[in-house]
Amino acid sequence: MPDVAFINGAFMPLAEAKVSIEDRGFQFGDGVYEVIRTYNGRPFALETHLARLDRSAKALDLTQPYSSVEWTAHVLEAIGRAAYPEAKIYIQVTRGVAPRDHAYSAEATPTVVMTVREFHPLDRSIQAAGVEAMTVEDIRWGRCDIKSVNLLANVLARQYVRQAGVFEAILVKEGVITEGAISNVMVVQGGTVVTAPEGPRILPGVTRAVVLNLALSEGVPVEERFLSQSEIYEADEVFLTGTTVEVLPVVRIDGKVIGNGRPGPIAKRLAASFTNRVA
Ligand code: PDD
Repeated sequence: MPDVAFINGAFMPLAEAKVSIEDRGFQFGDGVYEVIRTYNGRPFALETHLARLDRSAKALDLTQPYSSVEWTAHVLEAIGRAAYPEAKIYIQVTRGVAPRDHAYSAEATPTVVMTVREFHPLDRSIQAAGVEAMTVEDIRWGRCDIKSVNLLANVLARQYVRQAGVFEAILVKEGVITEGAISNVMVVQGGTVVTAPEGPRILPGVTRAVVLNLALSEGVPVEERFLSQSEIYEADEVFLTGTTVEVLPVVRIDGKVIGNGRPGPIAKRLAASFTNRVA
């Protein structure tokens, strides 16, 4: 099966999909997106992702054309057409095509793009061993809660990570940890899961919310506050959450060993609960 694309209501093979060079997504990064994955062939937390898409769009005064019910039908059709065992669905809505001018017109018709590709989950051995991360200065804008396609700071952070041969960038703004470049960051301190609060400095991760609820339902206390960079090195455990990483222990940051250098008990427990939850 070829990778599937969807543009403004029409399905086509990904290789044939094209949008105008005058699209504001291309000209200005003027758009929003979501990344969703399937488990057992079904999209995980689709409604929550669609609600966040809607929220991101509204925050940019961008009218995304489909209701949640319509989106769900399109997503299910796309997954069916691609027919991969597990798929990664990428949705993007831009403000549409217009002659280049920074200010926009309310009349612009949004461009809606969706792609479906095969999803290869992280190797279980990586999950079991934990990963290494590095801190990178968080140079992003003041509305990181909007899932905007403007990802330059994340692009640079991920490139540093690739060059350093580690797994993820932990972003640090004015001395505090915000989140990862493609994930949210959680820390265990004395049995409590601590993570940055929702607000303009982080993306309110779909996985983050699921994992915090799992922790609470299992009697693990949760605290939402910003951690300093030094606190993260001294944490008992650190782990990442996200659509692509699920619950992923971090065992080394900037070359410093976290805890005993192995995935900790709370991260392991939450990873197992998450696996049960998605099954
Ligand atoms: N990124 N924080 C950032 C900056 C992210 O880009 C992501 C996900 C997350 C985790 O959010 P969620 O649990 O809803 O996936 C947190 C996606 C996968 C991406 O850009 O590819």
